[in-house]
Amino acid sequence: MNQKMQKNKLLYIVTFGCQMNDNDTERMKGLLSKVGYQDTDSPDGADLIILNTCSVRDKAEQKLYSAVGRFKKQKQAKPSLIICIAGCVAEQQGEELIKRIEHLDMVVGTNNVHKLPALIKEFEEQKNRSKNSIVATGFTDKIEGDEYGYLADSSTSMPAKTSASVSIMRGCDNYCSYCIVPYVRGPEVSRSPDDIINEVQSLANSGVREITLVGQNVNSYNPLLTDETDDECSFTSLLKKVAGISKIERIRFVTSHPKDITDELIALFGSEPKLARHLHLPLQSGSDKVLGLMKRGYSVAEYTEKLERIKTLYPDMSITTDIIVGFPGESADDFNATMDILDKINFDNIFSFMYSKRPGTEAESFSNQLPLEIKQERLQRLQAAQKDIAAKKSASLVGTKMPVLIEGRSKNSDDELTGRTSCNRVVNFRASKDSSPIGLEGSVMNVLITDAYANSLKGSLQTERSV
Ligand code: SAH
Ligand code: SF4
Ligand code: F3S
Repeated sequence: MNQKMQKNKLLYIVTFGCQMNDNDTERMKGLLSKVGYQDTDSPDGADLIILNTCSVRDKAEQKLYSAVGRFKKQKQAKPSLIICIAGCVAEQQGEELIKRIEHLDMVVGTNNVHKLPALIKEFEEQKNRSKNSIVATGFTDKIEGDEYGYLADSSTSMPAKTSASVSIMRGCDNYCSYCIVPYVRGPEVSRSPDDIINEVQSLANSGVREITLVGQNVNSYNPLLTDETDDECSFTSLLKKVAGISKIERIRFVTSHPKDITDELIALFGSEPKLARHLHLPLQSGSDKVLGLMKRGYSVAEYTEKLERIKTLYPDMSITTDIIVGFPGESADDFNATMDILDKINFDNIFSFMYSKRPGTEAESFSNQLPLEIKQERLQRLQAAQKDIAAKKSASLVGTKMPVLIEGRSKNSDDELTGRTSCNRVVNFRASKDSSPIGLEGSVMNVLITDAYANSLKGSLQTERSV
């Protein structure tokens, strides 16, 4: 690509969906900065607009259509503007999107992100020959070394950050009956441990102190051995390797599948202080009947046994989960069983959703789909119950001293800095307007918690460093 011609082009990306899309967005920014695209936070004046989309629920998918509609006038006023749809809706609908959205130029699926610079070049060449769209979708069963690792590259203009996510795998082979992810992310493939460690090391060198390892089911991380001398690398072994990188202070991972959490991983929380005290473990339902219909591969008793063990070993661990209400055939008793689990486990936070019928999934054809009103009523009851539980949990933290990894100045107030506890809670605390966060940013300091709010804690900085 002609680097000179590409200089100072503006890139605007809108991201929907989960940790995988957030990570892909960061990769796209890194990749495109190498060919002269500078990331901006406003669409005005953009040369390339990318919508990185999610199709996990119908509502998520609808967001795309209203978002892309907003750029129609901008494209008419500036025909050289390239509009691209990436992510899970791109993968799911491919060519259909080009037919449906007149001002759309490119569709780039989830396994083709690394090809973006080449695809843009191809699009620009094609345009001169009056073919005017590109569609790149489809899956591969192997991850090449050069597909990832674009988050921190000395040749990019990416700003240094305190936290970053690193993708350790893509796809999913679980085929839960409600879920579209395996159809839009493809088969589960793990990256090589060496590639992951090299990426974490270069992030650490650029100032990153907290790493979140991401995948749809990180516990089943299982890289292909390329030659006989390679050692097998379980997810726990990978965590140990990451912890061996001295500048990394904290390690998180998301998402874990309850059926694949090993005793080895549970034990690691006891021996590895860099492992953050937080586990996101999606339960989905408190009814064995519903879990069976969902094809989740564990029972309520198996889930609670693992969690009780973790909570007994590590009482300070924060536990969060995902719940779906109104799955086809969920009776009032099934739903009440989910409500009972909330009381029993006392999750720190839950992400709860009304079941949404997804095309191509097994549950799409299930009879006894529930009416919207029942789903809404159950979601409201669930969320109200969790609100009380979460408020009590947060209030119990007031008066404690917690180590906080400082991320920078708070968005809400000039007088405050912000950071996160090991258990993944946001803490804002006072620091004078003149005192620069530089020096504190990226360090872990003790903060005395003074107030608890719905989504954050407030505190005061203690003078001593935590580590
Ligand atoms: N791999 C993760 C979750 C990925 S999707 C896991 O197995 O836990 C994130 C969450 O979206 C899921 O945990 C589930 O709660 C929700 N979800 C997925 N498909 C859904 C659907 N069809 N309707 C409603 N919620 C859904
Ligand atoms: Fe979807 Fe199940 Fe895979 Fe999670 S494990 S991404 S819910 S199919
Ligand atoms: Fe959505 Fe795709 Fe993630 S469907 S939840 S962005 S894997």
